[in-house]
Amino acid sequence: MKSRYSLTAPILAASLSALFAGANYAQEAMPTEPDPIVYSKSAAERGKSFYLINCQQCHDADGRALANIDFIAADLTAPDTWYYGTTPLHIFRSIKFGAGLEMPPFEDTIDDQTIWQIVAHVLNIGPEETRPTQE
Ligand code: HEC
Repeated sequence: MKSRYSLTAPILAASLSALFAGANYAQEAMPTEPDPIVYSKSAAERGKSFYLINCQQCHDADGRALANIDFIAADLTAPDTWYYGTTPLHIFRSIKFGAGLEMPPFEDTIDDQTIWQIVAHVLNIGPEETRPTQE
């Protein structure tokens, strides 16, 4: 009995640490605070150019997603119709990790700093009260 136990314990320890390493990675990948540039108008300007390259084929140039018939993409100007959260952190998460079945994750193609600029742009086409106001 004792010898079987001593074989099992290291295996168990190794798989547990692999599990926790995975959990740590997920925490590192998702920030806990929004980058302050989401409140910056110039960041939103820069974000717009990245938006037009990466997002307009589904959400349209104006964010309303009216023209696309292949996907029913979210109307990015109307956060009261969204499902996956409307705060800057939620928008970051939807872009980085995807949302629902058809919104693709961009974690491998867009770096975090650029994603925050795109978040600033998305806020900037949304309701007046959440638009960036700082330079
Ligand atoms: C291949 C098409 C496609 C591309 C490209 C795409 N999206 Fe989406 N997006 C969708 C679809 C479809 C949904 C709705 C998902 C759902 O509700 O199941 C969505 C949802 C979202 C949501 C979440 C809305 C909610 O309900 O919470 C945000 C935010 C968003 N997209 C922003 C973006 C941004 C910013 C980009 C570019 C970086 C982008 N999307 C690129 C198709 C796309």
